Amino acid sequence: MLEKFPRYPLTFGPTPIEKLDRLSAHLGGGVEIYSKREDCNSGLAFGGNKLRKLEYIVPDAIASGADTLVTIGGVQSNHTRQVAATAAKIGMKCRLVQESWVPFPDAVYDRVGNILMSRVMGADVELVDEGFDIGIRESWENAIEDVKAKGGTPYAIPAGASVHPLGGLGFVGFAEEVRAQEAELGFTFDYVVVCTVTGSTHAGMLVGFAMDGRQRNVIGIDASATPAQTKAQVLEIARNTAELVELGQEIAPDDVVLNEDYAYPAYGVPSDDTNAAIRLAARLEGMMTDPVYEGKSMQGLIDLVGKGFFPAGSKVLYAHLGGVPAINGYSYLYRNG
Ligand SMILES: Cc1ncc(COP(=O)(O)O)c(C=O)c1O
Repeated sequence: MLEKFPRYPLTFGPTPIEKLDRLSAHLGGGVEIYSKREDCNSGLAFGGNKLRKLEYIVPDAIASGADTLVTIGGVQSNHTRQVAATAAKIGMKCRLVQESWVPFPDAVYDRVGNILMSRVMGADVELVDEGFDIGIRESWENAIEDVKAKGGTPYAIPAGASVHPLGGLGFVGFAEEVRAQEAELGFTFDYVVVCTVTGSTHAGMLVGFAMDGRQRNVIGIDASATPAQTKAQVLEIARNTAELVELGQEIAPDDVVLNEDYAYPAYGVPSDDTNAAIRLAARLEGMMTDPVYEGKSMQGLIDLVGKGFFPAGSKVLYAHLGGVPAINGYSYLYRNG
């Protein structure tokens, strides 16, 4: 579905699929859990899910004649770190707006992890005192104008590279890659579990898996705590992406399966249950997840297996989208493990 779109390689290639035997057994053994390791997808500053999206956006950025990538996220945004790495790799400048999306008081929150790496990679980092919102932000529009005013040529990438017209393509590719890996493995996955916030990861997967009627088997775990807005954004991106790749079928509102049960107490703030899930995956599998995104989808996966949501014998693929660098911003919380 993606042949006609130019792609600038930023990743190593297909990501590995790993069976999580000890986690599966711990949860009763009735469900086989696998993980597709998008967190290990690239040498660009620890990688993560934004690079698949950016592979289809970079050709447009280069063609536009821009010299500066401008984007936005929270203080510990993985997305802004991946855009900073991409800018370095393609020889552009980078302007990052980092809003105060997370009400988290750790003393080193704005010094370590993602934001530290963005600064080391040479990005121009601006801290802005605005709360969480996945929509288009005035601070980002101001930054774009400021780059122009200073004689630069900006290329605008919205939060999570999501509402960009090409933002859904990367994860259509994820679904195509899973299909090819299923052919090699000799079985198909019954469900995919994915963390959802700005929406284009989930939306791209929906479109890719709609090819063989599996779009409702993509179980989004909301980590935004503003699920109505996230769900609407997934649907909009999925519909635009479906048109772009000429899917030939409508994406219906019910195709967006978004579980709202695990985002509490707020975006970026882990609950005790999130922390228990992070520790369990770390202690059984040596697989690190973060308190903002993947810890919440891991919590969702564990709880849904426990509740019998997945029929016995199901093969469930947990999409590990990256994000571990942010855990450094929560150093006090995990000071004893
Ligand atoms: C590690 C991680 N997981 C999940 C997500 C959610 O992906 P999306 O914003 O495309 O819904 C993000 C980014 O927002 C992320 O950085």
